[in-house]
Amino acid sequence: TNRTFTMLKPDAVEKGHIGAILDKISASGFKVVALKLTHMTTADAKAFYAIHSERPFYGELVEYMTRGPIVAAVLEKDNAVEDFRTLIGATNPADAAEGTIRKLYAASIGENAVHGSDSDENAAIESAFHFAGREMF
Ligand code: GTP
Ligand code: MG
Repeated sequence: TNRTFTMLKPDAVEKGHIGAILDKISASGFKVVALKLTHMTTADAKAFYAIHSERPFYGELVEYMTRGPIVAAVLEKDNAVEDFRTLIGATNPADAAEGTIRKLYAASIGENAVHGSDSDENAAIESAFHFAGREMF
């Protein structure tokens, strides 16, 4: 499809980067079709990242994602999933290309500022996790 899901993670919100990151997303051709500030519960974060439940960093990831509010958004663009992953850069900001959101705003692999869905199927699942149908336009 032409939609993806993103979160501006607690570190990005804490550092005051909401505006700058949304501006870069818009300037890169993505249309915001859903948007909110929200705070994931521990149960929310465990469920959202269930695929990583056996990984050694799972507990740290859940702590991080629940320590403060996030911005959740659904974005529309041709080839949205792949193009957004390109825009955010590698998981580890040390490996992220110049000009990518993680290169600009992420501190480490554990605190990497932004999420991007990895497939059309997961974009739909993750959007529905955070938004009711009437909140997506
Ligand atoms: P997302 O867009 O957030 O899904 O990131 P990704 O697809 O680039 O990476 P992946 O799905 O493999 O990992 C999900 C998240 O777990 C990452 O974005 C990091 O926040 C966290 N993470 C991944 N690897 C590590 C790690 O080695 N240590 C820690 N502390 N966190 C990690
Ligand atoms: Mg991922």
